[in-house]
Amino acid sequence: ETKPRTPVLWLHGLECTCCSESFIRSAHPLTKDVVLSMLSLDYDDTLMAAAGHQAEAILDEVKKKYKGQYIVAVEGNPPLNEDGMFCIQGGRPFVEKLKETCADAKAIISWGACASYGCVQAAKPNPTRATPVHKVITGKPIINVPGCPPIAEVMTGVVTYMLTFDRIPELDRQGRPKMFYGQRIHDKCYRRGHFDAGQFAEAWDDEGSRKGYCLYKMGCKGPTTYNACSSMRWNGGVSWPVQSGHGCIGCSEDGFWDKGSFYDRV
Ligand code: SF4
Ligand code: SF4
Ligand code: F3S
Repeated sequence: ETKPRTPVLWLHGLECTCCSESFIRSAHPLTKDVVLSMLSLDYDDTLMAAAGHQAEAILDEVKKKYKGQYIVAVEGNPPLNEDGMFCIQGGRPFVEKLKETCADAKAIISWGACASYGCVQAAKPNPTRATPVHKVITGKPIINVPGCPPIAEVMTGVVTYMLTFDRIPELDRQGRPKMFYGQRIHDKCYRRGHFDAGQFAEAWDDEGSRKGYCLYKMGCKGPTTYNACSSMRWNGGVSWPVQSGHGCIGCSEDGFWDKGSFYDRV
């Protein structure tokens, strides 16, 4: 109660803003408690009331005042082609803003597939050269929290862990927190019994689909996807992709956008 709240600077590169949409729906802990009581969200050009020069001035102020103490949360990634001209903020390429803001950060969180891996804007042939944050920023602890978007409670869970223990969570080889990305979707999927029994849906409207059989033959990527959807679920634990009748497209895995997860054109 006596400690100042850790400042967080939330940046937006090339992205769709659904990582923010996910974050604001966290049920445990509630986002309002995270934002108003646990951390100090000093800059977020999507959510903050300030705009233009006033907003950029806050960014500079926090960087100076809390040098080495603030966390940078990045949603989206910097495009590097044409000297970064595909994402301009405040009259400058986003990549410059990202590098400058991260220079004195304590740690960096890469939200979602965009910041962690590149995502659809990096799909072949990647015309803007959209590049993951960890390939642009070096020498700082970077936590990748992939997913398109990540689960709300995974996002607030990572923040809660960092604030509670004053350290970053244990990460796997891809920089993902093991506590949320340590198991495959397939390991905890409630349809797993059907997989083991060889019972598969083979069309969206067949008998197997109606009976809730395994969606592997419909393209489910659960066996190769590490995420917490089958254990934590979405929307406060209400449902998740497989429960809604569609297979996992592997949205938390690197390169999913180029690996046949989406439907072929007809
Ligand atoms: Fe949107 Fe997905 Fe990128 Fe998040 S990771 S900003 S949900 S495209
Ligand atoms: Fe595995 Fe997907 Fe089948 Fe679930 S629906 S058991 S995740 S292949
Ligand atoms: Fe993404 Fe698969 Fe979960 S598509 S939301 S990792 S079930």
